[in-house]
Amino acid sequence: MHQPVLLQQTIEYLLTDPNGVYVDCTLGGGGHLSHLLNFTGNNAQIIAIDRDKEVLEASRKKLNLPKITFIHEDFRYLSRILNRLNINKVSGILLDLGVSSMQLDTASRGFSYHEDAPLDMRMDSEQALNATEIVNHYSEEEIARIIYHYGEERYARNIARSIVKYRQEKAIDSTLELVDIIKSSVPARYSREKHPARRTFQALRIAVNSELEAVQEVLPQAVKHLLIGGRLCVITFHSLEDRIVKQFMQEQARECICPPDFPVCICGHRASLKLLNRKPVLPDENECHQNPRARSAKLRVAERI
Ligand SMILES: C[S@@+](CC[C@H](N)C(=O)[O-])C[C@H]1O[C@@H](n2cnc3c(N)ncnc32)[C@H](O)[C@@H]1O
Repeated sequence: MHQPVLLQQTIEYLLTDPNGVYVDCTLGGGGHLSHLLNFTGNNAQIIAIDRDKEVLEASRKKLNLPKITFIHEDFRYLSRILNRLNINKVSGILLDLGVSSMQLDTASRGFSYHEDAPLDMRMDSEQALNATEIVNHYSEEEIARIIYHYGEERYARNIARSIVKYRQEKAIDSTLELVDIIKSSVPARYSREKHPARRTFQALRIAVNSELEAVQEVLPQAVKHLLIGGRLCVITFHSLEDRIVKQFMQEQARECICPPDFPVCICGHRASLKLLNRKPVLPDENECHQNPRARSAKLRVAERI
């Protein structure tokens, strides 16, 4: 069961009009959406997007209400989705990034380093690229770059070298095969701190699903479709995606984005967002205790002006 993170706080920020139009770009198990439904009237309209068909269908079964439109698509096409539905402006947009527990807990999806399964990691199983393709066909430099940048893994070079050496003998097909390769590439003391495959699996997942590109692409579209006073709520789980969201919101909240040494403004930029908190909202100790996944969560909220 997916336990939604920062649930009360997120919905309090998101909800500005009980009969508004809301977009949940990351439906997942529908935890945030179910809570939002408690506060919306019959005239509200909700667009629920997920690029994972299995996850979307499971949530559709649970939450099948006329006011919800379920869309199987990547949120990076938000404008296209809304145009197709003849919707221009909305009251709130939610992004709760990353994977859902349903994806992690279904061993066959290949997201987990605890269970043996084909090395897949695709959120959208209709997509061609999967993690097997990356580890067996990308160059050593490219694999090291992915593991270093997306996993912030200090042993990225060692791990990439071992992957390429191993695959000369045999293709890497399964999650636990990759875990063993990673374990053999890092010092034993590293394995005692946290699971040694954690960062590499995160990196491959981000690369397979182009997660950072999707976030980068959706943010300007979200601003474009928000009503004045409408809210954008984004929950992130690691520093790479949080940095993208933070920088975007800060830039959109500034009147001028010229370099600081310019004597006069030439950018013509106007603020389109107001930040509702200077620092991100974090889960309290109680939530982190009950849901360890919440530990790294950060909620950033901005209002369209
Ligand atoms: C953390 S879960 C959301 C959980 C949900 N808020 C809940 O309370 O149950 C993230 C979901 O977003 C989906 N997702 C991630 N990136 C996506 C993208 N670019 N487009 C559409 N869905 C995406 C994943 O498939 C996953 O189901």
